[in-house]
Amino acid sequence: MSAREDRIRARALAAGQEHLFRHWGALNEASRARLLDELESVDFDLVQRHRALVRGDLAGAGTPSLTPPEVFPLQRSATHDVRAREAAQRGIEALSRGHVGYLLVAGGQASRLGYEGPKGAYRIGPVSDWSLFEIHARRLRAATERYGRPAPWYVMTSQGNDAQTREFFAQHGYFGLDARDVFFFSQAMIPALDHEGRILMAAEDRLFLAPNGHGGSLEAFSRSGALDDARRRGLRHLSYFQVDNPLAPPADPLFLGLHALERASMSSKVVEKRSAGEKVGVIGRVDGKLGCIEYSDLPADLREARDERGKLRFGAGNIALHVIDVDFVEELNRGGLQLPWHLAKKSMNVWEAGAQVARQGVKFETFVFDALERSERSVTLEVERTREFSPVKNHSGEDSPATTRADLCRLHAQWIRAAGLTLPEPDESGLHPVEVDPLLAEDLETFLARGPKRPEVRGRGHLYR
Ligand code: UD1
Repeated sequence: MSAREDRIRARALAAGQEHLFRHWGALNEASRARLLDELESVDFDLVQRHRALVRGDLAGAGTPSLTPPEVFPLQRSATHDVRAREAAQRGIEALSRGHVGYLLVAGGQASRLGYEGPKGAYRIGPVSDWSLFEIHARRLRAATERYGRPAPWYVMTSQGNDAQTREFFAQHGYFGLDARDVFFFSQAMIPALDHEGRILMAAEDRLFLAPNGHGGSLEAFSRSGALDDARRRGLRHLSYFQVDNPLAPPADPLFLGLHALERASMSSKVVEKRSAGEKVGVIGRVDGKLGCIEYSDLPADLREARDERGKLRFGAGNIALHVIDVDFVEELNRGGLQLPWHLAKKSMNVWEAGAQVARQGVKFETFVFDALERSERSVTLEVERTREFSPVKNHSGEDSPATTRADLCRLHAQWIRAAGLTLPEPDESGLHPVEVDPLLAEDLETFLARGPKRPEVRGRGHLYR
């Protein structure tokens, strides 16, 4: 036995993981080397803590007390209006001075969508057929043109889609962005456990590893050198968004400006939940601290609770758009990132004694919004759903490609109508097949200001670009 094997075995044993060596005798040299390499990179102290969580060795926290957050609302008073004007100005300054970078999380596995490959490669443009990545890239190009500054784009991937993501960008010429402004980095992978706290295997010489949740972006940003890159570029704020939402406006002066004026470290956008049952997290104060409660964790009575005007009391739906300060990311990583772990119990295809079998297992994730409680000041900005939020999550039904394409068509049809232009014939579902390139306009005001345009006719659809 080599000294290395000895050391790794001892660590595994101490963490209650001796089963990992059960088939050691049957492995060839290459497989042994491969397994040792994987085990070498496992944080067994963390596995120990996860094991304790799975086995219920740690006492539960009890029911938290929840209060609604203070929101900068859509229905604004005169005072809000004054503040909003000042903020937009401040946001434009931050953008024009090159203080803003963009952080996209795209490390998820797109399992609910049932799409093989990075979700960002999924084609969503109702007329253009552009991918999610391309639509985001076009918005960043628009920001570059508008503010005369590069738009440094930090794209978080994970082991399963990193190579494909990089390839997709390269194949598409970085969608017209400067490749030097696109920084890929990969989140960490951690072992999934069975219900007794044993590490699951994916093959005889491979562990079952899963991405560590989007909270992992904060740690990976620092570890990968992205943080140093952001510092070199003089960035102060990161505009954080998810790959699944093609309506996300990454360079929003109002949001950036409110955040900066408030001297916040991390801020969030919310939309009013469309129903008590909508599957979004809600922003609120949990035991006095700002945070987000996942839909699955919100008790039914709180989910249904209404205020005196009949509106949902906990209706500040998290749309996963944040501003996060570069200083804050650095501060969070000082002494190692500490975010709580969330357990996802799932059926998984694992390797066991020579065969692939379905087993109940547990994956562990951290969530980026758990960093909110560490932000001394924070802005929660309410925005209009139709303009900013239409995620692609599921294969069909709610939040699916069909609903997202319809939302894009509806929004853009409004602008086209307001500009007095002619809409193409509606399709079977009554939707006018239209789309506006984010490079041309990202809102009605810009669309109108750019004057009447002739669309490019594509099949039955009109694309304005
Ligand atoms: C998430 C939020 C929810 C919010 C909703 C808005 C969580 C736990 N909940 O829900 O509060 O209302 O978005 O759309 O996030 N990702 C990674 N690495 C990972 C896991 C996820 O990069 O390890 C990325 C995905 O690529 C995706 C995003 O994070 O872009 C969201 O992940 P997803 O699992 O789809 O979150 P939801 O449960 O839909």
